[in-house]
Amino acid sequence: MGIIFDETKRTFTLNTRESTYQMQVDAFGFLLHLYYGKSARGCMDYLLTYADRGFSANPYDAGEDRMYSLDVLPQEFPCRGNGDFRSPAIDVQYADGTYGCDLRYQSHVIREGKYRIPGLPAVYASEEEAQTLEICMEDPVTHLQVVLLYGVLPELDIITRSVRVINAGSQKVYLERLYSASLDFVSGSYDFLSFYGRHAMERNCQRTPVSHGSQVIGSRRGTSSHQYSPMMILAERETSERNGSCYAMNFMYSGGFKGEVEKDQYNQTRMSLGLMDEMFRYPLESGEVFYAPEVIMSYSASGLNRLSQNLHKCIRCHVCRGKYKEAVRPVLVNSWEASYFAFTGESICRLGESAAKAGIEMLVMDDGWFGKRDDDNSGLGDWYVNEKKLGMSLGELTKRINDMGLKFGIWFEPEMVNENSDLYRAHPDWALAVPGRKPVRGRNQLVLDFSRKEVVDAVFDQVCNVLDQGNIEYLKWDINRSIVDVYSASTHEQGRVLYDYVLGVYDFLERLTQRYPDMLIEGCSGGGGRFDAGMMYYTPQIWCSDNTDAVDRIRIQYGSSFGFPVSVVGSHVSAVPNHQTGRSTSLHTRGVVAMAGTFGYELDLGKLTEAELQEIREQIAEYHKYAPLIQNGLYYRLTNQFEGEVGAWAFVVEDKTEVLLNAVLLEIHGNMTVNYVKLQGLDTDAMYREKSSGKLYSGAAMMEAGVPLPVEFGEYRAYQMHFVRVDEENR
Ligand code: GLA
Repeated sequence: MGIIFDETKRTFTLNTRESTYQMQVDAFGFLLHLYYGKSARGCMDYLLTYADRGFSANPYDAGEDRMYSLDVLPQEFPCRGNGDFRSPAIDVQYADGTYGCDLRYQSHVIREGKYRIPGLPAVYASEEEAQTLEICMEDPVTHLQVVLLYGVLPELDIITRSVRVINAGSQKVYLERLYSASLDFVSGSYDFLSFYGRHAMERNCQRTPVSHGSQVIGSRRGTSSHQYSPMMILAERETSERNGSCYAMNFMYSGGFKGEVEKDQYNQTRMSLGLMDEMFRYPLESGEVFYAPEVIMSYSASGLNRLSQNLHKCIRCHVCRGKYKEAVRPVLVNSWEASYFAFTGESICRLGESAAKAGIEMLVMDDGWFGKRDDDNSGLGDWYVNEKKLGMSLGELTKRINDMGLKFGIWFEPEMVNENSDLYRAHPDWALAVPGRKPVRGRNQLVLDFSRKEVVDAVFDQVCNVLDQGNIEYLKWDINRSIVDVYSASTHEQGRVLYDYVLGVYDFLERLTQRYPDMLIEGCSGGGGRFDAGMMYYTPQIWCSDNTDAVDRIRIQYGSSFGFPVSVVGSHVSAVPNHQTGRSTSLHTRGVVAMAGTFGYELDLGKLTEAELQEIREQIAEYHKYAPLIQNGLYYRLTNQFEGEVGAWAFVVEDKTEVLLNAVLLEIHGNMTVNYVKLQGLDTDAMYREKSSGKLYSGAAMMEAGVPLPVEFGEYRAYQMHFVRVDEENR
């Protein structure tokens, strides 16, 4: 059973296939965290220790017992105001000006299936696949209720957490901070893995020892951001890709967030993740309810790669939705790096003709087809087709592309407006701006106030009107700036605006997915600036970075793989020299790198030679051969792409019968030494045949000694080797 309540010990135990999570209601009604780690039996309350600790406060109910302090004991949901001076998960202020809460256990419910969260994305599962635990905590004085939600998916080794706050008291409450999950570790020495970056260089992996004090990551940008991924890992010092204990928290939310790892005075560690608390002050009138977004947690006793695989499966099968969630996506060509804003309907059709000849399956018309939009200074907000620029209607263009045998897709940036647009001229108050101040611009655009339903409704109608003009099977949803001016004309409570904005985005996306259930939506924010599990609930793929350079992409995709599956990673072959770096790599290398994602192209195919077009045809055929394995296989990081001469990764079928090894030589030197790539996840007793050479390899030796890469001349060579277990060959 996934969730067990022991009435005598008052413990809640959550079991997954390989992990156990335990907490206990103590004599005072406080909920203490006992354990999260490798599967364990029995009650672990002996982990709680008591001593008289100076300057660690004691709750009144403990009487004269100076050994009981919440400043030292591991908490399940730490709050400000009860004597724990570490970083709280909840901080409230009441209308009378007082702060704090004192949460005591009231009741709990265990049920089959996975809870949902109104208005917010959440992991979903069938009644058989998941269980839910709700623990209701209440402040006896103010009657603030905090319901802790746990979703347990035993087969996936996943536990989700969320929080519902109910103002059951009579006075108004302000939520000043509400994290979704907090985990206390009474012992251990850890490293903190976080994923930092910038536009066009997202999700670099950083591993630092947890030291005294707090290490904080987050986003104040209103979106999850390029700068930090809302995903974090705590790993024991000796943990590697293959061995050791590690814990992940992955935030299913697309707005600002804060993640903290804190080491306290007694060397205990607290890891927490939730909503950004700056510019957050959410009002709750008596009777009102607030929902915290979900955190997906996982534990692995067998290293980081396994931890990532747990998250991959969860996101691929229990977060992404719709027709495309487990389907191989159409190979697309996107017009952005092909022609930027300079296109007409005819030139799009020419791109379509070359695409069809090369075996590409979908054409996406990127930015520039609407309003007055010949550069990025005007037009956003005017979602009507610029037929003059296109020289034809959208219906006609779509039909012509469809007649070539291609699907048709289109780009939007629904949350944005340029001052030079009809929408802004008609509704200047729909843009976020602080009264009396000039708004701060980003890419010369302003942000529409999606916390207001009438704004969301108006843009939704415009977008649907365009989508209904032809057979449009794909939509790219972009957002190309961070939010600065937080002021909504619709409320006096500006501390709620950023959260309500995200709810507005989700509402729009939910309506869109319901109205167009067969449409593939790809998320984007200047590449991977809103690359999070929240968006993945609506958009089963996200353009991973505006950087299409194959060598940089290896690193960006490597960092992304810690928390996210390849099935969500938008990845394209583009032109050389690369538009972001000026680097040249072979078409083969670009193809191998782009295949570690939802494969596509983004270049002017009309400029390619016949031989290059032929190579693309072969590349697409290769991709089709491997696509199910890439999409659904287990993903292994075989090297650290930030260190060493080789970047290597593999896809292995779960039953170990097939593996696709990918490697790119990142450095070249004179008289090169041989690089051996060690595989993982193979059958040690089996022999595997490499399909193009016919050579036989031992599964055990491939993992122990590795597979040698050829010593060849030239930079950035890529290798793709497909091995099939010998007993499976003739099936
Ligand atoms: C963003 C996206 C690009 C492209 C442009 C269009 O930067 O990441 O792929 O769509 O916007 O303006």
